[in-house]
Amino acid sequence: SEAGPPRVKVPCISWVPVLGSLPWLRGGRPLHLIFTQLSYSYGPLFALYLGPHLTVVVNNHQHAREVLLLRGKDFAGRPRMVTTDLLTRGGKDIAFSDYCPLWKSHRRLVQNSFTLFGEGTSRLQDMVLAAVDSLCEELLSMEGRGFDPAPAVTRAVTNVVCMLVFSATYRHGDSELQEVLRYNDGIVQTIAGGGLVDIYPWMKVFPNKTLSKLKACIAVRDRLLTHKLEEHKATLTDNQPRDLLDALLMGQVGRGRRKGSGRVEEDIITEDHVLMTAAEAFGAGVETTSTTLLWILAYLLHHPQVQERVQKELDDHVGSERPVRVSDRARLTYLDCVINEGMRIRPVSPVLIPHTAMTDSSIGGHHISRGTRVLVNMWSIHHDSAHWDKPDLFNPDRFRDHQGQRVTPSCFLPFGAGPRVCVGESLARLELFLFLSSLLQRMSFRLPNGASPPDLQGRMGVVLQPVPYKVVTGGDRWRQMVTDGDRWW
Ligand code: HEM
Repeated sequence: SEAGPPRVKVPCISWVPVLGSLPWLRGGRPLHLIFTQLSYSYGPLFALYLGPHLTVVVNNHQHAREVLLLRGKDFAGRPRMVTTDLLTRGGKDIAFSDYCPLWKSHRRLVQNSFTLFGEGTSRLQDMVLAAVDSLCEELLSMEGRGFDPAPAVTRAVTNVVCMLVFSATYRHGDSELQEVLRYNDGIVQTIAGGGLVDIYPWMKVFPNKTLSKLKACIAVRDRLLTHKLEEHKATLTDNQPRDLLDALLMGQVGRGRRKGSGRVEEDIITEDHVLMTAAEAFGAGVETTSTTLLWILAYLLHHPQVQERVQKELDDHVGSERPVRVSDRARLTYLDCVINEGMRIRPVSPVLIPHTAMTDSSIGGHHISRGTRVLVNMWSIHHDSAHWDKPDLFNPDRFRDHQGQRVTPSCFLPFGAGPRVCVGESLARLELFLFLSSLLQRMSFRLPNGASPPDLQGRMGVVLQPVPYKVVTGGDRWRQMVTDGDRWW
């Protein structure tokens, strides 16, 4: 008979009917920390039941590479969940759609649209730099006073996504921008509190305040995005796409035309898919990027000597007479290490997005049945002392070798890997680079007098985020540059 996958079972932690292993996961700590703790007693690969769902947790990088890369296709499925179904019209997006031919061509279309429109062209750089300019101006206007940088950073990153998706440039206080910020925040807060209904979908039949709020935010989001979509459809030409919506619409039309050549209806990227993709650029692109920036800033406040080294590198390679550009990236290696170290020590998506096994398969020689959920605990991989020296220490130099050359350890995967790797990785890296370099070129950050440094424990919302903290900016580094045209806000 055919040799099937191995039958060794993954060790499973205790569970009871209905509740599954939930009673063993209490204590109010975030799941990634509970899982890391459990891996000390059960080993790096263990199973548990989240309610009725058999879930395997992967805690070391060899197993993670099997799941994401080596047998990436076997594990490229996504579980259906009540909140994400609402958010994505039943999986018409990229992140929460199950693996299928339509998802594959949708993902390809989005990747091509990103390439066509943004990556590798100077348009994306110009957009980010315009948002950075306004952010710097706003932060410098607070000079000398302690303030929470989170709202301004989130606004700047949101502005980049608005520009990228539907070419909107907003001024400070613009009511449409406020609306985007409000519904996005509402979605983030409610998804973070969604909880039990995703484990027990039948609970959705009961009145649920969180779900009602989520539905209300989604309705506002969809109204605004539908309006943008209709505007784009009415003004679409054969010329270069103006933005991501244009690129998606053009790609969708291209595919639609092939309908006559035997493609079935379910194989077609619909307008709903285009809308959900636009929505996802906000959902997946704002909170992740702005939170990563806030973590790095928090660590710079703890390690002023790291901030000084980045600024010295900027002085040596860019100076203060011109803005930083993407082409400077190759020379600013220490800044690159700081960004990587920030994403290693505080991965904003510490257990990635849940995967499911599409077929019977294996991890580390253990049998995994089709339908099993798989959580990759990137937190424990990024803090594994077998691979990282003093993993709890913020040490950007670990991303350089003795000759000062960049190194990327194979157990560093902040964007995941394989068929489900983050679609926005290049965009996110571009933003992180341009935001941090421009900010540190123009100003320094320090703690307000008498304030203690930011809490580095963080708290778990939709992403792992720092507890709010205050900074003081000093703009002595920046010789006022002449900028053309109007400011955005
Ligand atoms: C998926 C990280 C920014 C769009 C993911 C995943 C991670 C991640 C860990 C899950 C991979 C998995 O489940 O295996 C990050 C980080 C970011 C960032 C750390 C910023 C620092 C962005 C941006 C966008 C984006 C800017 C788009 C505008 C997506 C999408 C997926 C995804 C669509 C789903 C991919 C799929 O399921 O096929 N990201 N991301 N992300 N990300 Fe990002």
